[in-house]
Amino acid sequence: MAWWRIRHPLFLFDYTTVKYVVTQNRKVGLLYRIFQLTVMAYLIGWVFIEKKQYQAKDDTVESSVLTKFKGVASVNTTDFKIWGPEDYVYPKQGEDFLFIITNFIETPNQELGNCSEKSSIPDANCTKDEDCIKEEAVRAGNGIKTGLCLKTAGGSDGICEIKGWCPTEKHGKPDKATVLRQAENFTLYIRNFIRFSKFNFSKSNVKLNNSDDYLYLKSCLYDQIVHPYCPIFRLGDIVNKTGRNFQESAIMGGSFGIMIDWSCDLDKEDSHCNPHYSFISLGSNTTGFNFRIAEYSNDAEGKKQRTLYKVFGIHLQIIVFGTARKFNIINTIINIASVLTLMTAGSFLCDIILLYMMKKSTFYRDSKFERIAKNDKESPAKKMPEGPKRKFSL
Ligand SMILES: *[C@@H]1O[C@H](CO)[C@@H](O)[C@H](O)[C@H]1NC(C)=O
Repeated sequence: MAWWRIRHPLFLFDYTTVKYVVTQNRKVGLLYRIFQLTVMAYLIGWVFIEKKQYQAKDDTVESSVLTKFKGVASVNTTDFKIWGPEDYVYPKQGEDFLFIITNFIETPNQELGNCSEKSSIPDANCTKDEDCIKEEAVRAGNGIKTGLCLKTAGGSDGICEIKGWCPTEKHGKPDKATVLRQAENFTLYIRNFIRFSKFNFSKSNVKLNNSDDYLYLKSCLYDQIVHPYCPIFRLGDIVNKTGRNFQESAIMGGSFGIMIDWSCDLDKEDSHCNPHYSFISLGSNTTGFNFRIAEYSNDAEGKKQRTLYKVFGIHLQIIVFGTARKFNIINTIINIASVLTLMTAGSFLCDIILLYMMKKSTFYRDSKFERIAKNDKESPAKKMPEGPKRKFSL
């Protein structure tokens, strides 16, 4: 026997081929066709058209935001002033975090000196001078204790005297009367520059190619339907679009988010990649937003003075997010392959029906599973009646 005829123990040189059995069972045939069509429809309709799985995606947006407020308001302070953006916007440089003063409590003409601490501060309550330790700061208070306990009229309890800005801040809740009514007409200009680094694609929400673009920017105001790409927003619109009322929110202040969503299909032209703006309220109706600022000046005798403002207002947070998608051959192949694997499930199901659930199942089983006996001479293939002769040649 020649050496190549000896069967290798590992069947190293064997190639296995699958034998197909063609049946003419219409029911199973139809079932399999329906299954194939369903899988194809799923692949084309859902995976490709609806989910666009043939595209690679990048959902990390690199973004920078510049903001600028415009508008003036007459303000009901003791010296009745006009406030511009340089007075009501914090921080001044215009970032994606913004605060716009819409209301305030004013404590005018504070001077450095000695006075009684606010009575509502527990750490400043006293009955005798020893309770007010000299040089100790009042916890959560406005100054340094002088060591004196000032008796309040009629009571035995008193309040510590402090060294600090006197008189101390006025009590009370923010008042409707001081609201900057015109603040609803302030406008916010947002310049947002984004980049999807995976596709090396960048874009800005402000288009400035020619003089028409400049003119448009000068006059437009964002409107979901008429001017969806105008980057200038009215403060009142931003608040009202979240379902809150501007004039009411202006009293105590509140937090709001401006969402800029970039969903870009980069297989289309650049002009199809545009921001979509939406507005949300961050926090409930009752959580206000406030902090304190002071303005310093000198009085007639040259003594230092300040006006303290507890300011309430609209806190805006600009949140940029998005996804870019672009055709990718690897994604396409992976998705086609994974869907086509489903076809195997179909064949498996049809096999089970054909081989075990039909009347002629035994017959089909016999044709599919061909038992070949050890002894070549008893092979059923040899016993089969002679059919049309086939010749194989390579
Ligand atoms: C805001 O502007 C509109 C029109 O430009 C005006 O009718 C309205 O009175 C203004 N609101 C306030 C509070 O000034």
